[in-house]
Amino acid sequence: MSTLFSPLSIGSTKLANRVLMAPLTRMRATAPGDVPNDLMRDYYVQRAAAGLVISEGTQISPEGKGYADTPGIHSPEQVAGWRSITDAVHAAGGVIAAQLWHTGRVGHESLHDGALPVSASALEFRSRTSLKDDEGTVVRAICPTPRALEVDELPRLVDDYRRSARNAVDAGFDLVEVHAAHGYLLHQFLAEASNQRTDGYGGSLENRARLLLEVVDAIIDEIGADRVGVRISPVGSFNGLDSDDDGEAGLYVARALADRDIAFLHLSEPDWAGGPALDDEFRTRLRAAFPGVIVGAGNYDLAKAERLLDAGHIDAAAFGRSFIANPDLPTRLEAGLPLNAPTPETFYGGDHEGYTDYPALADA
Ligand SMILES: Cc1cc2nc3c(=O)[nH]c(=O)nc-3n(C[C@H](O)[C@H](O)[C@H](O)COP(=O)(O)O)c2cc1C
Repeated sequence: MSTLFSPLSIGSTKLANRVLMAPLTRMRATAPGDVPNDLMRDYYVQRAAAGLVISEGTQISPEGKGYADTPGIHSPEQVAGWRSITDAVHAAGGVIAAQLWHTGRVGHESLHDGALPVSASALEFRSRTSLKDDEGTVVRAICPTPRALEVDELPRLVDDYRRSARNAVDAGFDLVEVHAAHGYLLHQFLAEASNQRTDGYGGSLENRARLLLEVVDAIIDEIGADRVGVRISPVGSFNGLDSDDDGEAGLYVARALADRDIAFLHLSEPDWAGGPALDDEFRTRLRAAFPGVIVGAGNYDLAKAERLLDAGHIDAAAFGRSFIANPDLPTRLEAGLPLNAPTPETFYGGDHEGYTDYPALADA
């Protein structure tokens, strides 16, 4: 039997298998208020056979929102909405983590009553985000040049993360995953291309990683290291931010997180987004930097997952698009059964179509 279907402990949480559901933004929260709803609950419950369900990116504060109708975890209504989801996932035998998200410069003033998105530096940024028009149709919009966060705002930002982690535990999540990947706020501080600060949060790698590590330390202080994971994308190009350091910043962060004994490190690989496949030399270096649980994600199938598990490069694999289309993905992979194909047109926004209507084999 492949180890993909064997149990795994992460922190103090026991996972039944190593087929994880990757975090997937679906833009179906209830407006106004960005509240998780019953449709989202049904979607997550259908996928509760994952060793770990990682929630879609969930904003830690109104400022952290970068896309229309993404859920938050900063208001009592949002916490109550998530509570009904985590209770239902637990009742179905699942385990669930909240992905804590601040999109930084990937955003739009229309999401913030006219206030500009914030980032490490006020650099021109021509990448795009997704909004909805009056009919609820998803439209792409160019992000404005962001406002640079003042150094005296950063303790408040760290506190927003801390509070969101507390809210996640209050909402019944087993774990949190700090989203430090894909060109969002924490990655914008970490990468030289997006951070031209001259204070203690810019310049050297140590300075650029400072905000991320302060955030992780605050969350550890609040809920314990055994409930904290961090997602990074050290190599590749995501949301208008290109890695230009061969992954060195990610390796530095991995070593710092190993010292903190967090529950897991989640590696988002670049090839699914058009980048090159990650090479094994980098995987070897990452393993040396982080001896704890490593989750790999990006273009995984059974063969890739098993090869990397056997080589000791990863301890679990997270599946994105195949989990969208196959609510019973672990069963299908284990039995070698065919997979439903995903329909990308229904990834972002909409209703139950392309969301809760993908059939499980048991439905057939
Ligand atoms: C529709 C969609 C939404 C996504 N949303 C998120 C997200 O909220 N947070 C995140 O870290 N990654 C997000 N990703 C990236 C996935 O977690 C995953 O890394 C990616 O889909 C590659 O895995 P796959 O090849 O198995 O699909 C998203 C990907 C897709 C396709």
